[in-house]
Amino acid sequence: MPFVAFEGGEGVGKTTQLRLLQDRLPKRYPDKEFIFTREPGGTEFGEQLRQFMFSDVATDADGKTMFGLFMASRFAHVSKVIRPAIQAGKVVITDRYLGSSFAYQVIAQEGSVSHAFFDAHVEELGCFPDITLVLQMDPEKSQERLLRRFEDKNRFDTEQIEFHKKLCEGYDIFLKKYGNQGACPINADQSQEEVYGDIMKTLASILR
Ligand code: TYD
Repeated sequence: MPFVAFEGGEGVGKTTQLRLLQDRLPKRYPDKEFIFTREPGGTEFGEQLRQFMFSDVATDADGKTMFGLFMASRFAHVSKVIRPAIQAGKVVITDRYLGSSFAYQVIAQEGSVSHAFFDAHVEELGCFPDITLVLQMDPEKSQERLLRRFEDKNRFDTEQIEFHKKLCEGYDIFLKKYGNQGACPINADQSQEEVYGDIMKTLASILR
């Protein structure tokens, strides 16, 4: 059964789209069972790790350090949740997966991980999604959306904007590298329903 990953930088509307899918997919495909999961997390081990990773202790951790933790969460996720669900004939949809590690830890974050190490991780994991949807938007526009959402506008200084640009670059490289393995871009700079329509067009081929 299909395995789908959702990816994108911050402020591109990924959470909204995943909520729509969670609500609508079971109605549209009543004969299929859907599992919605996320990274880091998805297992009890991963969720506890997530709390630790987003706590104050981890704020100074560099890309390599964080990659170790994202990998730990992912190996548990694949062996305990993703693989068993696929084998049981369920459709698995994860909020973030390998694409995030590539864009954030290989390309954007300080102390980044080498391409060779990332490739070895992909190989060792042995569980690449059938489709990876990458929601894309001009970084200036996603910044604007984030600024509207958060009261604390100081969070987004110049350094932050540069980081968001690097993230977009990271996802572009990911799309080129894995375009022939189901990675495809979705234009997130449209209305909510238009973005949803594009996502459904892409998913229709594997949900038949
Ligand atoms: P989350 O609160 O789920 O953010 P979002 O709504 O943007 O998905 O936090 C996930 C954060 O973890 C997000 O900033 C991306 C980051 N991340 C990585 O840096 N590498 C990874 O491999 C994964 C899975 C997530």
